[in-house]
Amino acid sequence: MTERILGIETSCDETGVAIYDGEQGLLAERLFSQIELHKIYGGVIPELASRDHVTKLLPLIDEVLQDAKLRLSDLTAISYTQGPGLVGALMVGATTAKSLGLALDIPVMGVHHMEGHLLAPLLEDNPPQFPFVALLVSGGHTQLILAKALGEYELLGDTLDDAAGEAFDKTAKILSLPYPGGPEISKLAQSGNPERFVFPLPMVNRPGCDFSFSGLKTFTATLVNTFDPLTDQDRADVAAGFEMAVAKTLSKKCERALKQAGCSQLVIAGGVSANRKLREVLSVMVKKQRASLFYARPSLCTDNGAMIAFAGFLRRALMSKQPELDIHVKPRWPLDLLKTVSAESNAS
Ligand code: KG4
Ligand code: ZN
Repeated sequence: MTERILGIETSCDETGVAIYDGEQGLLAERLFSQIELHKIYGGVIPELASRDHVTKLLPLIDEVLQDAKLRLSDLTAISYTQGPGLVGALMVGATTAKSLGLALDIPVMGVHHMEGHLLAPLLEDNPPQFPFVALLVSGGHTQLILAKALGEYELLGDTLDDAAGEAFDKTAKILSLPYPGGPEISKLAQSGNPERFVFPLPMVNRPGCDFSFSGLKTFTATLVNTFDPLTDQDRADVAAGFEMAVAKTLSKKCERALKQAGCSQLVIAGGVSANRKLREVLSVMVKKQRASLFYARPSLCTDNGAMIAFAGFLRRALMSKQPELDIHVKPRWPLDLLKTVSAESNAS
């Protein structure tokens, strides 16, 4: 029987729902972004996020079923984001998924949010093949991963402080731009000169694949304070310089990771992978390395239900054991500690 998986994402400030069909691919997807709710606070308020997921999740599930012209009884399994993320927000997705699974008597799988991001580019045409190097850049993570097979992920590099998305969001605040800052900085940078200010490229001269972004944020704050008044052109030039510094730093580390792993495929995933400057800089780098670059369409880079449905589908295809019914979310969950699918299905 064809698998039809309902995917549920509620790890942070987006309620994402999708249905993935094993033969036809993505049948339907819906997303509700809570940005307007959190914007006035300049960041995500966890309690508000959980409450909003509660009100939006069931209506969104009804909508994807209608879009796909399916009934609940047509679903063969459910996958939900088990972690990492905000605990209350995760609980909304987990309890809804488990209750529906119990009522429908179908399996329910907890999916790792970052594995969802990592696999999203595989939803596009001409997908990468394992093994590949993946740069995961989101609001909470900046990691270089060697993806050897589904569920087999070796950590090559990590951030020592802020994540890349976090650095974008904090720098946006310094420039008085609204939350989330990544897309705003990117927009402002288009009218800026990236070469007017010499930004540092953190950690590029140190060996290894680790990152550090907090210095860039401090550099930006200090730079901005030297202007009085700060004109629109100054702000645009700062945004462009910052964006270029992040892109060049990430590119240098990706180049190193590709060489270290002996890989010729680079996958970028997570919210920051939607950044056009980053894609541009990485395209030039991979060309020089005779490697290929893979990424998903922008709507699949930021949080969404499709990546969770798809990750659930890939795991389901290889899983023999029925998952347990207990509800157990994992707010902190390192990707390299994820059990491989074969280890999971052999566990007693
Ligand atoms: O993956 P994601 O949607 O959520 C997390 O799992 O964190 O990533 C959100 C992050 C935010 O920090 C946001 O500012 C950043 O991704 N982001 C961008 C862009 N779009 C989203 N950063 C730079 N350029 C963009 N175009
Ligand atoms: Zn995410």
